[in-house]
Amino acid sequence: MPLIDIRHLTHRFADGTLALDDIDLAVEAGAFVLIAGANGSGKTTLLRHLNGLLRPTAGSVHIDGVPVTRDPQRARRRVGLVFQDVDTQIVGETVADDAAFGPENLGLPRPDIEARVTAALEAMDLAAAADMPPHLLSGGQKRRLAIAGVLAMDPAVIAFDEPFSNLDYPGVRSVLRRMIDLRAAGKTLIVTTHDLDKVAAHADRLLVLAHGRLVLDGPPGACMDDIERYGIRQPCSYRFGGRLESWLN
Ligand SMILES: Nc1ncnc2c1ncn2[C@@H]1O[C@H](COP(=O)(O)OP(=O)(O)OP(=O)(O)O)[C@@H](O)[C@H]1O
Ligand SMILES: [Mg+2]
Repeated sequence: MPLIDIRHLTHRFADGTLALDDIDLAVEAGAFVLIAGANGSGKTTLLRHLNGLLRPTAGSVHIDGVPVTRDPQRARRRVGLVFQDVDTQIVGETVADDAAFGPENLGLPRPDIEARVTAALEAMDLAAAADMPPHLLSGGQKRRLAIAGVLAMDPAVIAFDEPFSNLDYPGVRSVLRRMIDLRAAGKTLIVTTHDLDKVAAHADRLLVLAHGRLVLDGPPGACMDDIERYGIRQPCSYRFGGRLESWLN
């Protein structure tokens, strides 16, 4: 049974916009999946279905065989979503409180919460900022805090919506390094990005959305010759060297 099983998923917003159109998709546990596509192609809408933030207009999303609509709480524990707009995700009075919000909602004992928060802040290089009010952080630091908050919940699936936007070079490298570690630890990663340069070499599957439809699905290297027609730029290393290269090299 695939960890994520999406069948005929269609989403129409109240104003009539058809944001997802009959998506079929199965993701196995441990996969590292990229989702690319032009602005408005449906990437964020798709991620929001994984943990029950949206309900399908038609079709279904199953996590471990359980429909998300039947148990959205369970879906939220299994799938952590790092939002594209990090300001909407920040809720705590301090950086440490903010990272504790998710584990607190899981009802974990206080010492476990503290241990998870400490580890997550360290992993995202935010330990020194633990007592700061989050609104004083820079844009890139806020993004790292949003990731720390999801790490602290220890979900099986981590969905990152445009994780590299606003990050400087060391920030990109540390997020990428973290993704690789999470993957090695058995997590399933789903990452939307406009910037295949940064991450395509590490993923094992690339999905391309166009106008709410899934138009490409395969190993990143095998999709590269077709992506530009969907408004996605080929990574430089592919364009000029015919291969995908890691940013960590
Ligand atoms: N709350 C909403 N009400 C109506 N339409 C919406 C809503 N949210 C998104 N849409 C529309 O749904 C479509 C898909 O939007 P979505 O945010 O999923 O795209 P995206 O691929 O994530 O784009 P981007 O690359 O800009 O992040 C767009 O046409 C968008 O305008
Ligand atoms: Mg989006």
